[in-house]
Amino acid sequence: MDRLNRMPIIAGNWKMNMKREQAAELAKALRELMGDTTACEVVACVPFTDLDCVAAEIKGSNIALGAQNCHWAESGAFTGEIAASMLAEIGVKYVIIGHSERRQYFGETDETVNARVKAALAAGLKVIICVGETLEEREEDLTYEVVGRQLAEALDQIEDDQMANIVIAYEPVWAIGTGKTATAEQAEDVCAFIRGVVAGLYYVELAAALRIQYGGSMNAKNAAELLSQPDIDGGLIGGASLKAPDFNEIVKAASAD
Ligand code: PGA
Repeated sequence: MDRLNRMPIIAGNWKMNMKREQAAELAKALRELMGDTTACEVVACVPFTDLDCVAAEIKGSNIALGAQNCHWAESGAFTGEIAASMLAEIGVKYVIIGHSERRQYFGETDETVNARVKAALAAGLKVIICVGETLEEREEDLTYEVVGRQLAEALDQIEDDQMANIVIAYEPVWAIGTGKTATAEQAEDVCAFIRGVVAGLYYVELAAALRIQYGGSMNAKNAAELLSQPDIDGGLIGGASLKAPDFNEIVKAASAD
């Protein structure tokens, strides 16, 4: 499948880190290091309370604003939740859906992932859908089964023409925040599998255009090797996205690819 047509995408997932002042500083530092043009797409997925101050820092730059979750309803009695349209109206471009931490700690299911994806797309957001197996699942040889199921259910009733607004992040749960990166071969293997599943659900050309990220302890040192794999089009970066020089190295590795 043709890699040349896929623009690499590096997204930082700041998780529940960075108070407003730190967030603004980090965004400013990133912008200064990266400059305003990069050969890859860059997204900063920040806590809800940082969205406006980060937006101000990255205005006019190549960094797109991202959030880490949204609710599936347009409005209503959902205390503590944020609707996709609320994110869109303050300039959010991307939202992460189905992160394993949401699945693990907040009762996210394949069904709620699908509902959130639909709501985000309807609000005009682009979506980074996370999939990935746990260590036990990998050890029981269930990786393909789990990832295939998560993917098919997340994409249920998503139309062909909406797929251009979707990025898939393969994040093996055992590699997140643990320092245990999947080897480039392991990561490529599952990313190629994901492309194959999407080709089956839709069609080959659509799958060839789909961008697939790897996430899980990606850092300034291992990024180049991971990003050189034919089916890995970017990264979803947690820990290393909190350090501007490290994140910048990853962006450079993706840009050089
Ligand atoms: P990590 O997190 O880079 O710290 O492993 C990645 C993620 O959870 O998206």
